Amino acid sequence: MCGIFGCILKEKNSAPVIHEALKRLEYRGYDSVGVAALHNGRLHIKKDQGKIDEVHEVHNLDDLPGNVGVGHTRWATHGAPLKVNAHPHVDCSGQIAVVHNGIIENFTELRVELENLGHIFKSKTDTEVIPHLIEESLRRNPSLDLANAVLEAVKKLEGSYAIAVVSTNEPDKIVCARKESPLVIGVEGDNVYCASDIPAFLPLTNRVVMVEDGELVIISHESLEIKKIADSTTVTREPEIFDWTAEMAVKKGYPHFMLKEIHEQPACLRNTLRLQDHYLDLMATFLDRAREVFLVACGTSYHACLAASYMFSKLAFLATYPVIASEFAEQHGKSVNIDSTILAVSQSGETADTLASVNSARERAATVLGLTNAMGSSLTRVSRVYIGQQSGPEIGVAATKTFTSQLSVLAQLALRLAKKRGKVSQDEMDFLAEKLDEIPDIVETIIETQEENAKRIAEKYKDARTFFFLGRGVSSATAYEGRLKLMEIAYVPSIAFPAGESKHGPISLVESGFPILFICPKDGTRKTLIGNIMEMKARGASIIAVIEEGDEEIKKLADDYMEMPKGIPEVLSPIPYAVPLQLLAYYIAVKRGLNPDTPRNLAKSVTVK
Ligand code: AGP
Repeated sequence: MCGIFGCILKEKNSAPVIHEALKRLEYRGYDSVGVAALHNGRLHIKKDQGKIDEVHEVHNLDDLPGNVGVGHTRWATHGAPLKVNAHPHVDCSGQIAVVHNGIIENFTELRVELENLGHIFKSKTDTEVIPHLIEESLRRNPSLDLANAVLEAVKKLEGSYAIAVVSTNEPDKIVCARKESPLVIGVEGDNVYCASDIPAFLPLTNRVVMVEDGELVIISHESLEIKKIADSTTVTREPEIFDWTAEMAVKKGYPHFMLKEIHEQPACLRNTLRLQDHYLDLMATFLDRAREVFLVACGTSYHACLAASYMFSKLAFLATYPVIASEFAEQHGKSVNIDSTILAVSQSGETADTLASVNSARERAATVLGLTNAMGSSLTRVSRVYIGQQSGPEIGVAATKTFTSQLSVLAQLALRLAKKRGKVSQDEMDFLAEKLDEIPDIVETIIETQEENAKRIAEKYKDARTFFFLGRGVSSATAYEGRLKLMEIAYVPSIAFPAGESKHGPISLVESGFPILFICPKDGTRKTLIGNIMEMKARGASIIAVIEEGDEEIKKLADDYMEMPKGIPEVLSPIPYAVPLQLLAYYIAVKRGLNPDTPRNLAKSVTVK
């Protein structure tokens, strides 16, 4: 998730306007920035790695001539956050510049094709294929104009994109196109803006033309033309007025970042399904060869590790040790050695306890693998192989979209390991891979069908003094995550444990009206779990159950329930089943008058021990 911006201004220089707009898009990515402006038939570009203020300090991003330009603030997915990978990217002639938000899945093949045609690439990004494709179309057919060359190029792209393209040959135009990634146009008299999100130009205009998926837009002083990429048919669309404050705009109209990020999960999960095979295979190979594997992390990331330990065992017959990072050195410090492998999971890539575990393991020559959301973070620098999960920046302190994305990546790793080890039949492999592809849509359905339900249940339990979260098997990891969300943003003292532990102590806490949330996918643990539900019900507990749609047996036992779509495989269930728990925690916090984005005593990415 990056931020792109472009503008065509009547009078003013574009660079200062682009600079300010990128500042308003910095929540979308902040590891490198760049601006390109057209003036006197030349492209003027300034770009570098680092936050916008840092780069501006060194390069003065306002100091570029010309009233037409584009800009980009980056959240690295392909290619480390370095100057060479910062956008805009240009073609061989340096006359075409492109800024892009999204992931080009087939960039490797396209790059090889273009290199065989003599194109020289400078960066490690997926994006750089786009200016070279446009250049190649114009080389093959010089009568083409920029818009049609962009049209030809985007038809070759697989994946997601929102792009803005400028060229010295048509200096009064910006050509944009989108597929999945967001793109909006702002109109203000003779000035026209294109951007990833409305906040970019909201202080300048609230007249917004929405760009739909599969559309190309040609903006100039004179006109704004929208065409369908598929068949070039023209689309007319009137601007809409958005009466949003800047803060509302950054939150896309959601009251809090946490709710916005819960709703972003389908898109983020689709991104995790676009990871480069090469790195997934490489990491699976390291895991396959390992004598012992520790899954090390903190908080929500640790819960992803806990769930992964079930996935690795059930699919690949690989025993792994999920370890809370702050306990790693104490618990395993002495036994770690050159045959040990540490898979460290950290969305920020900067959590001190996780990095300390990794460093203590490296001192004992262990192999370190990393799963993170922050390319260029400390974890990526100490990992032998790392995977960027591509969730985009997470602003809310409570991890939501990064948790489900971590689980999706770990499930993909477990599937590749299962394939390597031939532990699962091809049919089962295909079935699970198919289901994993459906997970983004399943999560979309859950948000649509269960948000109101979660709100209703939150209203009923907003004054609860405590809560139990119970599950069995892989769902015990989901239970721990549900508990953490409710504790950290709603301040409700809560307990989670594998349901089988109930009668070994915790059941003594249960009395009439005691709220207990059970996570009950239709898997091998369901029968036994029903026994646990009845045990608690017999002691007067209020039962909330997260069940598979149409599970009448548990519906009869539950006081309240949230229904999940049918047919979700057990090992993948923590991904969708976490979502109603996120919503419940969010609405209980809001109904208790709390701000879920900034819970007391907490900050994002704990970097102090
Ligand atoms: C989760 O909602 C919390 N913000 C916290 O537990 C977090 O998961 C933990 O600090 C780990 O952060 P990391 O993934 O950035 O390492």
